[in-house]
Amino acid sequence: MTANPSLDPRPALPDPYFQSEDSRFRLYQGDCLELMPRMPEAAFDLVFADPPYFLSNGGITCHAGKMVSVHKGKWDESKGAEADHEFTVRWLRECQRLLKPNGSIWVSGTAHIIHSVGYAMQQLGFKLLNDITWVKPNPPPNLSCRYFTHATETIIWAGRDKKCRHKFNYALMRRLNGGKQMLSVWTLEAPRREEKVFGKHPTQKSLALLERIIAASTDENDLVLDPFSGSGTTGIAAARLGRSFAGVEMDEPFLRVAAARLLGVPQADSPERILATVMAHADGVRSPALLGEMLGVTERQVHYCRQAAVMLGLLSFGAAGWQLTDTGQTMAGGKPLECARALAAIIACHPLVQLAVSKVRHCKDSEGRRNTVARLLFASTALSENTCQRRAQTLLAWIAWAKAQLAGEEEYLFRDVPPATEESDDAAVA
Ligand SMILES: C[S@@+](CC[C@H](N)C(=O)[O-])C[C@H]1O[C@@H](n2cnc3c(N)ncnc32)[C@H](O)[C@@H]1O
Repeated sequence: MTANPSLDPRPALPDPYFQSEDSRFRLYQGDCLELMPRMPEAAFDLVFADPPYFLSNGGITCHAGKMVSVHKGKWDESKGAEADHEFTVRWLRECQRLLKPNGSIWVSGTAHIIHSVGYAMQQLGFKLLNDITWVKPNPPPNLSCRYFTHATETIIWAGRDKKCRHKFNYALMRRLNGGKQMLSVWTLEAPRREEKVFGKHPTQKSLALLERIIAASTDENDLVLDPFSGSGTTGIAAARLGRSFAGVEMDEPFLRVAAARLLGVPQADSPERILATVMAHADGVRSPALLGEMLGVTERQVHYCRQAAVMLGLLSFGAAGWQLTDTGQTMAGGKPLECARALAAIIACHPLVQLAVSKVRHCKDSEGRRNTVARLLFASTALSENTCQRRAQTLLAWIAWAKAQLAGEEEYLFRDVPPATEESDDAAVA
């Protein structure tokens, strides 16, 4: 997303609020109507937008069995039909300018805004491709008993203009749908509990939904924009699928959640290095270059070690930058042997590790174990086969290390798992 500054009359974008160390994930704080005009045109392959639905106008809903008022935030209040439509036209026009000629856009919404979105798209000359009906299997009940229970949202998919030759990864969608053509009706759960461990957003979309959208309409290394990025679900899905991402969000607490979520994707093979990263942070070392030197890895690998430490609940990224969590703090205060055993116990309890453990129970050799875990990841995500092989190796390396640390207790933590023999290999970090 660069332009020649000497030729470009637009005011420069502010520095990102947060960017990943490889710069492929960027979050900008501000109003998208102000920031999008500062971005160079035709820069993005895909836009996903989950704009305000203008629902927060004194209604009621049911949350956790209780009647609560629908108030998601000031940003969700309607200013009247005319003004709301004008807002929709303005941000959609900017998205159109930012899309590449063959780029496409997805916009989600309920009846409160989706007709305005569809009409605006027609006014602006987008090419309508599909309207997806997203069915929510467990919607909150309707408390007034005067309407059907609201159980769907619509997501409109459109090409940049009438000439757009949009990307559609048809074969992948068919494979994910058990070998049959995928319909435009998608039944997908709301975000799972583990998607909210880094903080919540009142209208958070599920990773499953965003992964499907991104996998369907982009290729690896494509660039994705979300002008209303909230807790960063689009960006996290993009990162998991090897796409680059730029998100705009006004509200600082949501940006913080998004940054923390990104850092929760595990890719570092060596638990010793994860531990050393935590200890270095306890000693006040924050610079990736210095950390890389201390750990004997590249800056990029430092990033993966930090991500893994976040996933394991030892580090966090907040307004004050990198810091130890309470668990990380406690661990850093222990003796080296105690620290290693504590980390091993944390790894053993992690849900992803436990899932991998349960799957490899009957595998005879290390190759079988790797292939089994890779197949599990491949079937349940849209990651490429190579990436699944590497992530499988990471999980197995963690398990092998944790078992060795927990000698004597491993029976309790890793019931029935044959001894792992793989060498941990940091070359697999990629
Ligand atoms: C419907 S939520 C998006 C939730 C997101 N899809 C997620 O999974 O977390 C809309 C978000 O847009 C933000 N927002 C509203 N108006 C905005 C604007 N003009 N510019 C940037 N962000 C805005 C709100 O703060 C809110 O977090």
